[in-house]
Amino acid sequence: MTNQLVAAARVSREFAVAPFSKFKVGAALLTPAGRIIGGCNVENATYGLTVCAERIALFKALSEGERAFSMIAIVADTAAPTPPCGACRQLLWEYCGDIPVILANLTDVTGEHRMRDLLPLPFDARLL
Ligand code: THU
Repeated sequence: MTNQLVAAARVSREFAVAPFSKFKVGAALLTPAGRIIGGCNVENATYGLTVCAERIALFKALSEGERAFSMIAIVADTAAPTPPCGACRQLLWEYCGDIPVILANLTDVTGEHRMRDLLPLPFDARLL
């Protein structure tokens, strides 16, 4: 299933809208039922409104009724792993919890982490 999810993230990466950074990223979320929802980064001319691949995948999934997630794969064309940014970590934690995060490039898996390690001491709804 990990290989399938990474493959889906590679496909999503091809759709990246990254004319400014040229840094294409793909992400794919897995649901407990086995559904895969992909996303890519989408940039814009003001730069600041750019949305990462991870959040696009997450918002797509949430907007289609998905509420539980079991894994995410993130792909960029780099030798070093591309981990999720701080904003994405917050949202992935809140909506996905302590899921495995698979980092990969176009040929290899370059890292495997848990959300609790990527976002220690998180703020979330339990604290409200
Ligand atoms: N980006 C992602 O989509 N996900 C990440 O995990 C890191 C960064 C995007 C945002 C921007 O379009 C480009 O990569 C360069 O930062």
